[in-house]
Amino acid sequence: MAVFRKPTPVDEEILLDPQKTIMSKTNPRGIIEYANDYFMRICRYEEQELIGQPHNVIRHPDMPKVIFKWLWRRLQEKKNIHAIVKNLAKDGRYYWVITDFEVKLDEKGNAVSFFARRKAPPRTTIAIIKDLYQKLLAIEEAQGVDVSEKYLIGFLEEQGMTYDEYIEDICFMNKEKEDGDEEQVHKKRGFFVRLFG
Ligand SMILES: Cc1cc2nc3c(=O)[nH]c(=O)nc-3n(C[C@H](O)[C@H](O)[C@H](O)COP(=O)(O)O)c2cc1C
Repeated sequence: MAVFRKPTPVDEEILLDPQKTIMSKTNPRGIIEYANDYFMRICRYEEQELIGQPHNVIRHPDMPKVIFKWLWRRLQEKKNIHAIVKNLAKDGRYYWVITDFEVKLDEKGNAVSFFARRKAPPRTTIAIIKDLYQKLLAIEEAQGVDVSEKYLIGFLEEQGMTYDEYIEDICFMNKEKEDGDEEQVHKKRGFFVRLFG
């Protein structure tokens, strides 16, 4: 199998088309089995370079490990997770996504594949999550992932939200929210359904 040298990150963003979806399918170990054309267009890898590679081929060094720890824990529980992820393209540029997963099960209930859809997160969300990720990364570099996980748990406790509720909140923020309006709260709950269809 070909081994690729990790690109050197450059501080330049690739902006996603909000109408388009990046899709990939992996086996239970995260090895890419399928990637749609838009994925390849954005990450700049050719199909033959991506298929058969672990999904961390596009892992960006600015991403804290704890987010992937939580992502994999959720997938192992056969559940979805809407995570905000910064990805590294082959040319070193980056792009932000929000994830949506579908876990395919065999007749015994074992996961046989993971199907990921990714879309452009709202711009305001990126500004907020960047700060949190920088803190988590700094803690991880100094103290390791168990300590950054404790920080993340404490941070969410302060917000009074689960991880999913927090992500939904910051995605929704400044987009459609108006204080205390019942209809708006209801609208917020449907945010991901509207985003991913
Ligand atoms: C279906 C699927 C899609 C994934 N998509 C991404 C992705 O877009 N970017 C990313 O960095 N990791 C993604 N991951 C997680 C990677 O497998 C990996 O855990 C992550 O890149 C961190 O790398 P590491 O586990 O080697 O530290 C995905 C995993 C699965 C199962």
